[in-house]
Amino acid sequence: MPDEGTISWREVLVETESRLVGSGHDRATAVREARWIVEEASGSTSAAELDLLATMRGMARHDAMVERRLGGEPLQYVLGRWPFRTLDLMVDRRVLIPRPETEVVAGLVLDEVDRLAGGRDPVVEPVLVADLGTGSGAIGLSVAVERVGTRVWCTDVSSDALAVARANCAGLGSPAQRVTVAEGLWFDALPVDLRGRFEVIVSNPPYVAPDEDLPAEVLDWEPGGALFSDDRGMADLRVLVSGARDWLAPGGALVLEMAPDQTGLIAELAQSAGYVEVSVRRDLTDHNRALVARR
Ligand SMILES: C[S@@+](CC[C@H](N)C(=O)[O-])C[C@H]1O[C@@H](n2cnc3c(N)ncnc32)[C@H](O)[C@@H]1O
Repeated sequence: MPDEGTISWREVLVETESRLVGSGHDRATAVREARWIVEEASGSTSAAELDLLATMRGMARHDAMVERRLGGEPLQYVLGRWPFRTLDLMVDRRVLIPRPETEVVAGLVLDEVDRLAGGRDPVVEPVLVADLGTGSGAIGLSVAVERVGTRVWCTDVSSDALAVARANCAGLGSPAQRVTVAEGLWFDALPVDLRGRFEVIVSNPPYVAPDEDLPAEVLDWEPGGALFSDDRGMADLRVLVSGARDWLAPGGALVLEMAPDQTGLIAELAQSAGYVEVSVRRDLTDHNRALVARR
């Protein structure tokens, strides 16, 4: 039986845009999302391919994705993947959707890796990095892929999240050999013999206050354990600031993502805990977003 239907993917695209607009999406978002869905369903990567006839198998996939999106599920989960820096990460409800501001945080880690690696043979002496609360693996796996001279530990308390991180790691090819995935509460996931030897510790921990209003698309779909932290969103940040010092090598760096209004207090905390060269860094929208502090 032929798999070809009678309308082109371009016509499907126009229809999908209207359905998304009809369900309340603004036009620009609808156009962008319809394109993602149609490209995913059709496997097309160029505008010319949109003139091909839609296949029945592709349409079944398309219709299922549109229904899920119209039901309020975030586009990233509907697609099952999302780009992060150079990676195409598998994502689903077990993990937080990687955000653009976190791409900046991963960039800060690379800056620290470059500073620490200067003059070393990366094969003999790789920079040891820990990404605590790795979720999909976004930060840690980016570091492993973008810097060959690194050895990266990706940890999480959620075994569900780690299943996603492991799948993403497996898709990396040879950089995966420099990644270890481990389960446990913050520093408990790391082996004791590496205490005092990590050169960069990075985390994008849960930092939303439990009583904060979040859009339904976040609250209803993303894992609560990835979002909320007590003490106005700062309980986990405090644990990381106080714990990381013992796990860092001298000169090593702690890189933490947080909310803009948390940066002042967490920077003060880092200073009083004895870190040096404490600085607050901005994200792409010019908001204070991350702390870099050195031991
Ligand atoms: C905000 S998400 C960040 C995910 C990913 N690093 C990213 O940037 O997209 C926080 C992650 O921390 C994990 N987490 C929460 N509490 C934890 C804890 N006590 N120990 C280790 N990981 C924890 C969550 O399971 C979640 O995957």
